[in-house]
Amino acid sequence: MASQRTLCIIKPDAVEKRVQGHILQRLLDEGFKVVAMRQAHLTRGQAEGFYAVHRERPFFGELCTFMTRGPVVLVALERDNAVQHYRDVIGATDPAKAAAGTIRKLYGSNVGENACHGSDSEENGRIECGYFFPGHELL
Ligand code: CMP
Repeated sequence: MASQRTLCIIKPDAVEKRVQGHILQRLLDEGFKVVAMRQAHLTRGQAEGFYAVHRERPFFGELCTFMTRGPVVLVALERDNAVQHYRDVIGATDPAKAAAGTIRKLYGSNVGENACHGSDSEENGRIECGYFFPGHELL
C-alpha cells in the first residue's frame, strides 16, 4: 500500500481536556509521520468552509459552533494506508459506538464532541491537508 496523507484535527473538546499530547503520541506510535502541524482557533468561516459538505445536515450549525469555541490542533499525517489506518485508530464517529482503545472511545464525549476529525478518503485527505496548510509546508 502506497504512502498517503490524511488530516487530523484534534478538536476543541480534546484540547480543553489537555489530551492533545496523548493523541499525538498515539498517532506517532501507530507509525504516522507528522508532515505539518499547528494550533489554530478556527474562524466561523473556516469551520463552515471545511465542513461545507455537511451544510444541509441538521447538526451543521452546532458543529461549526463547537469547532470554533476554542483552539484545535491541525496535523497533516503520512503513512502507508494512512486514511484507513487513521480511521481505525480514531474509531467510530460516535464515541459510544467506538471500539475499546480507540481515540474517540478514550477521549470523546458524544457524536459531536468526538475528540478528533478524520478524512474519509485519500482524495479528501489531500484536499483537507491543503485547506489548512500551504503547499510549501506539505513538501
Ligand atoms: P468529523 O470526523 O469531524 O466529521 C463530521 C463531523 O460531524 C463528525 O466528525 C461529528 O463530530 C459531526 N457529527 C456527525 N453526526 C453528528 C450528529 N448526529 N450530531 C452532531 N454532530 C455530528
